[in-house]
Amino acid sequence: MGRDLAIDLGTANTIVYRQGEGIVFDEPTVVALHASTGSVVAIGEAAWDLIGGDSGNVVAVRPLREGTVTEYEMTERYLGSVLRRAAPGRFPKPRVLICIPSESSQVEKRAVVEAVTSSGGKQVTLVEEALAAAIGAGLPIHEPIGHLIVDIGGARSEMAVVSMGGVVSGHAVPFGGFDLDAAIQEHLRSGCGVAIGAKAAEEIKIAIGSAFPSASGRAALVIGRELSTGNTVEVKIDEDEVRQAMADPVRRIVDGARRTLGDAPPELTHDVLETGMFLTGGGSLLKGLDQLLAQECEVPVHVAEKPLETVAIGAGHMLEHLEEYRSAFQLVRPAGRR
Ligand SMILES: Nc1ncnc2c1ncn2[C@@H]1O[C@H](COP(=O)(O)OP(=O)(O)OP(=O)(O)O)[C@@H](O)[C@H]1O
Ligand SMILES: [Mg+2]
Repeated sequence: MGRDLAIDLGTANTIVYRQGEGIVFDEPTVVALHASTGSVVAIGEAAWDLIGGDSGNVVAVRPLREGTVTEYEMTERYLGSVLRRAAPGRFPKPRVLICIPSESSQVEKRAVVEAVTSSGGKQVTLVEEALAAAIGAGLPIHEPIGHLIVDIGGARSEMAVVSMGGVVSGHAVPFGGFDLDAAIQEHLRSGCGVAIGAKAAEEIKIAIGSAFPSASGRAALVIGRELSTGNTVEVKIDEDEVRQAMADPVRRIVDGARRTLGDAPPELTHDVLETGMFLTGGGSLLKGLDQLLAQECEVPVHVAEKPLETVAIGAGHMLEHLEEYRSAFQLVRPAGRR
């Protein structure tokens, strides 16, 4: 007993909640493979540490793109390792509740179920991430009141209005934290002729990145490679520059939130004017993003207490109270049916 698992398989991070225990696995969604044999060398944190290293024998990949299972075989091997870590021992196999994006197609849902089943899980239950996030944020989802959830992840951001135990309307935009990192890399490449790695860009974003102007005047030094000479150089970048570099993907996330609010049934939009917007996902930790969203969408904005864990906490709560949430489970039709 107590071996069942709830999984938030994100493009950036994987978090596993184990029944009766809480979060037992919380690591980057990365697989490191041996370059010539293709065998799995490491997963998670250990694999992440290998990114950007100069070992030519190992390639590290992110098996998920846009939150859905694209590199099927890689995902299967990755999940197999995660399940072995989170629920050691082969029998009984853990039952698995796993979160999926709201707009997943039947093909994508089947791919998730198959990946979990062949990785050592059984009786796979699918739930929408936005609903799990709402539960994780402690919102009264069964009530006939609209709540707006904005989950800003690595590769994507999902916005949904949740009411009466389900997702009523929503949008997903293919922009998230990874795109902010890429925008910083691109700014340094085109503006200063310097190449930096994705990891360094993420560090800059977390240290001095912001979405709303402030007068802090913070700056960071970053080491990169000068494109014209190949030499290692040090460049200084300040907060305003980083904010401007990230402005385009930030605006797309804000536009998505505004659109979700505009498309929701009027009575629910009316609720949201009072209940406000709930931010989750690692991207919501970007400084000033809450201020920008409040200004642009004209609703109160709340950031979840532990944005990186909200979905997993909500999914864990659903796992512990399966009966209560049965109506929210996503159905997967067998192949060939529409
Ligand atoms: N303090 C911070 N400031 C800004 N961004 C942050 C911060 N901490 C984490 N992030 C970003 O959050 C993102 C990861 O968030 P999260 O773990 O919620 O994504 P995910 O659920 O794996 O992805 P997805 O939902 O797209 O599948 C990364 O891009 C990371 O850089
Ligand atoms: Mg996520």
